[in-house]
Amino acid sequence: MSGGSILLKGGILITPSASIKADIKVVDGKIAEIGAALNNAGVEEVLDVSGMYVFPGVVDEHVHMREPGLEYKDDFTHGTAGAAVGGVTTVLEMPNTKPPVDSATILEEKKRLLSQKANVDFGLYGVIHNTNAHNFDDIVAAGAVGFKIFLGPTTGNIPPPDDGTLYEVLEKSAKYDVPLAFHAENADLVKYFTQKVRSSGRTDPSAHTDARPPICEEESIRKLIILSKWTNGRVHIVHIAAKEGVELVREAKHMGYKVTGETCPHYLLLNTEDYKKYGTAIKVNPPIRDREHQEALWKGVLDGTIYTLGSDHAPHSAEEKKGDIWKCAAGFTGVQTFLPLMLDQALKGRLPINKIPQLMSENPAKLFRLWPRKGAIMVGSDGDFAIVDPNGTTTITKEWLIAKYPITPYIGWKLKGSIRYTILRGQIIAKDGKLIQPRKGTFIKP
Ligand code: DOR
Ligand code: ZN
Repeated sequence: MSGGSILLKGGILITPSASIKADIKVVDGKIAEIGAALNNAGVEEVLDVSGMYVFPGVVDEHVHMREPGLEYKDDFTHGTAGAAVGGVTTVLEMPNTKPPVDSATILEEKKRLLSQKANVDFGLYGVIHNTNAHNFDDIVAAGAVGFKIFLGPTTGNIPPPDDGTLYEVLEKSAKYDVPLAFHAENADLVKYFTQKVRSSGRTDPSAHTDARPPICEEESIRKLIILSKWTNGRVHIVHIAAKEGVELVREAKHMGYKVTGETCPHYLLLNTEDYKKYGTAIKVNPPIRDREHQEALWKGVLDGTIYTLGSDHAPHSAEEKKGDIWKCAAGFTGVQTFLPLMLDQALKGRLPINKIPQLMSENPAKLFRLWPRKGAIMVGSDGDFAIVDPNGTTTITKEWLIAKYPITPYIGWKLKGSIRYTILRGQIIAKDGKLIQPRKGTFIKP
């Protein structure tokens, strides 16, 4: 595929089940050999990674890179460059671009456009809204990794399907074994609480959290679990922010339903106290919640209830992110800080290090049917790696961030660990914070 060969020597492989010292040989983009003291005969390049951690490349299942149609916020070139520098080798791109990816034709066009720009490998979601369920089969045939379905209002304001349509779409999910990623917030309840809190005259940033209380998530997730129970459709609840969400997913898992959950670094690292420090920068949907929710999410991550992490990379322009809490756009950049933030948590002892490849590479790749090509360090898998110096440090600065508008609450955070190399199908695409080989990414499908 890519030609060439590289030998990674002396690293410590971090997999979901173990940390092992071993060399890896990648030939023509694929892992050809894993073992102790591999010889370098015939290998074009030897990279000494002694003492470094070798992770499978991160599969970020949740990014909004804004192209086409919303390039004033950010674009695929910047987004995937940030991914590369941050150790992410595959991104799954959300469909709330302009036009929304609601037909096979639009998916094909988006694929062609992004293929010319991709700095890392990428898959595409389709969207199912109120009027396009009939396009489901064609969008699957065009190579979508899955679908996003917005039950609550957010960027793009894509209207939700009605319950009958949802049932039908879940049946199709079961038929094709295609995952459906849900933005699970009940739209009517969000509308009701938003009006109530707004009309009270509040303008403090935390009013956003009260405008979308946990009941919005709980109602929506409970409904989706019921629908999965009756259809056997694959329901993936993305960006879980409420403890009720964790509890419901835990219960559904015990019942054996095909229900999984994702959360994001911001729900683990921030809580409503942080509005004082960061103001509207941390406005996101669903909202950052109180500490008790944050703790329940950590528990869910540690006990295996939460199946994946996603960054929910959601850049906006500086203009859109300022001003009052009601007008401010929801979301912020995240793909580049995704691995550094979680690595820091692991190196500080909050998260077992082997959870990183599990939640950020293997599980998303499995869910979206890209495993073991992606998300695995196994012979035959793509040679995708994030190589980390556990003794290094990373300071998040605007200059380091690759984005049209490097807006994130994490500016100034000092993190343990640094990403030294990102390798995509055997090619070093990023080194020490710089993209060194652009446009090596390609479209991938299940
Ligand atoms: O805060 C958010 N921003 N939540 C979403 O669900 C969408 C995202 C965006 O696209 O801006
Ligand atoms: Zn999102």
